[in-house]
Amino acid sequence: MTELAIDVQGLTKSYGQRKVVDNVEMQVAAGRIVGFLGPNGSGKTTSLRMLCGLLTPDGGEGKVLGLDFRRQASEVKRQVGYMTQKFGLYEDLSIRENLDFVARLFSMPDRRQAVDAALERLGLKTREKQLAGSLSGGWKQRLALAACLLHKPRLLLLDEPTAGVDPKARREFWDQIHDLAQEGITVLVSTHYMDEAERCDELVYIAYGRVLARGTAASIVAEAGARDLEDAFVKLVGQATDNFAEAG
Ligand SMILES: Nc1ncnc2c1ncn2[C@@H]1O[C@H](COP(=O)(O)OP(=O)(O)OP(=O)(O)O)[C@@H](O)[C@H]1O
Ligand SMILES: [Mg+2]
Repeated sequence: MTELAIDVQGLTKSYGQRKVVDNVEMQVAAGRIVGFLGPNGSGKTTSLRMLCGLLTPDGGEGKVLGLDFRRQASEVKRQVGYMTQKFGLYEDLSIRENLDFVARLFSMPDRRQAVDAALERLGLKTREKQLAGSLSGGWKQRLALAACLLHKPRLLLLDEPTAGVDPKARREFWDQIHDLAQEGITVLVSTHYMDEAERCDELVYIAYGRVLARGTAASIVAEAGARDLEDAFVKLVGQATDNFAEAG
């Protein structure tokens, strides 16, 4: 049996009367790259935050990295690298200072070495003294990835990591993601870009907080009887919107 890095059922979260994540099931095999897609407001960020132990779900059971994701949330947090939609860097600290700060947060014993290794790996060395606030989008993104890799997580939850960065930086970022997966790290990554979806092993598509499709890009296209992935998603969300209107 394949080891599952994420194995969660019934994930649910409401804000007021509205269920923004509704009975989501998520299974991700170790070492895989899974793309998480869906329209704005469909519940991707909310789901990712629950999976990494930052947000308490209303419902749901299961395991993340073999840990009970609800009862062992603090242990999950230590083993997961979470990259937020807005990167969450300290703009008035340099690249090195940002990484050093994160290493302190994780009480890493070999801090200097870990920061040096991260600077090296992400090609940040030449600009280590530059303030994060003055970096371009592509460099900020690289720094954010370095920061979430620092504590050697086994699972990465990346929330639109390439939003607003140029095509070359996006391509390099995805090369990094594939290298990390080769090393056995599992990746769940949200994106609105179809070319990025094509570079994932599998996809999960949600709308209105519910999973509408999952599987390889090819199987989703085939099942929807669509021309391509974008066409498949347009069809799926169209059907869901009709059902939603009927139900509501
Ligand atoms: N703290 C909150 N309080 C109230 N509503 C919230 C809160 N956080 C999220 N929501 C609502 O929950 C829904 C799902 O939001 P979420 O951020 O998870 O969507 P998303 O799929 O990440 O969207 P996007 O693609 O725009 O990032 C949205 O309608 C949002 O307005
Ligand atoms: Mg989001």
